[in-house]
Amino acid sequence: MVDFSRFDARHYPTLPVRDGYEAWAPTYESTVSDLMDQRLLDRLATVPWASVGEAVDLACGTGRGGTWLKAKGVGRLTGVDFTPGMLEKARARGVYDELRLDDATATGLPDAGFDLVTQMLADEHMADLAPAYREAARLARPGARFVLVGFHPWFLMSGFPTHFDRAPGEPVAIESYVHLFADHVRAAHAVGLRLAEMEEGVVDDAWVALKPKWEAYRDRPVSFALAWMKA
Ligand SMILES: C[S@@+](CC[C@H](N)C(=O)[O-])C[C@H]1O[C@@H](n2cnc3c(N)ncnc32)[C@H](O)[C@@H]1O
Repeated sequence: MVDFSRFDARHYPTLPVRDGYEAWAPTYESTVSDLMDQRLLDRLATVPWASVGEAVDLACGTGRGGTWLKAKGVGRLTGVDFTPGMLEKARARGVYDELRLDDATATGLPDAGFDLVTQMLADEHMADLAPAYREAARLARPGARFVLVGFHPWFLMSGFPTHFDRAPGEPVAIESYVHLFADHVRAAHAVGLRLAEMEEGVVDDAWVALKPKWEAYRDRPVSFALAWMKA
């Protein structure tokens, strides 16, 4: 792990993670595009979404991912997030069977209770990946999948933090860390998870149509998906 400040090119004021998401919750969904994660989820071929009986969506936020999972046919779905304002939005969506205000690295949910564990767009806020992978592996049944989607380290290392406008023209960043893919593999292998599949998404026409200034980042990788399997 390397602290994002090592790469920071923008020097926005930086908020702690919970404070940041509490402030972002009201406008989060108008800022974050499905291109970031759902396009990659669509490409994963090894995850049997429709035969998942029990799933848990860690760091579920406002429930964008949960909505996608339910549409793919997953069964009972639990969401966990430690930011009350984000969880309230998820509750309003009505796609989770259970929502818990908890840390994604210490959920209190039962051992080996899930066929699918997901965590989308949250690892960059975790200083250490080991607790997140340990918790995902603890929750997963043998043969279960852990699907982690992340903001690409290339973008962070280019000085581009996770950020939003707290008020018009007032950008703020949220505390972030950079993890290399080797960090993910090390953390996963330490807890018995093996990589089944990986995808990366790059800035393409669809992104540039949405964010014209991202022409400067065309063809650069912006997000990734790792599909792990528990032995
Ligand atoms: C960028 S949002 C992603 C939300 C959702 N997964 C999505 O894809 O839209 C990051 C979320 O991670 C949550 N988060 C970050 N670290 C967390 C932790 N250790 N435990 C629980 N939630 C966490 C934040 O509260 C926030 O809701």
